[in-house]
Amino acid sequence: MSNNRVSRRQFLNYTLTGVGGFMAAGMLMPMVRFAVDPVLAKKGGGDFVLTEQKISELTEKPVKVDFTYEQVDAWYKSDVTDNAWVYKDGDKIIALSPVCKHLGCTVNWGGDKKEPNQFYCPCHSGRYEKNGKNVPKTPPLGPLDEFQVKEKDGYLMIGKVVPNTMVK
Ligand code: FES
Repeated sequence: MSNNRVSRRQFLNYTLTGVGGFMAAGMLMPMVRFAVDPVLAKKGGGDFVLTEQKISELTEKPVKVDFTYEQVDAWYKSDVTDNAWVYKDGDKIIALSPVCKHLGCTVNWGGDKKEPNQFYCPCHSGRYEKNGKNVPKTPPLGPLDEFQVKEKDGYLMIGKVVPNTMVK
């Protein structure tokens, strides 16, 4: 006779542990899936948002272009309207983020009458050159970010925010 026989008590322990573990996994899996679902969800619609700005109407003077996209925050979806300062630099289209790199206020083109060819942040008098470069001795410590841009059927599309590519 073998010494490895399973006693009735051991058999019951193994069986109850197995069944209990199976039931616990069955209850926990949906909860884990529910918790991480927004992270796993695929984002639709691509990275670019179509605007109402005609490319042919852009000039060398920055204009504010609004665009709206759907933002998903966990299970809550909402439409967010954002904007960019857009202008032409030769054949290139530049779209700068209006978010000040000091404390995040919104900058305006020509907002300071003394410096009509600069971006101005009214919160702490931050200033930026047309290419987004922060003016030394004003509060911002870095250049304005850029948006990726694309053209579709003559209209401007705005993409992700990227670090400024014009300021070295
Ligand atoms: S937030 Fe723009 S200068 Fe301070």
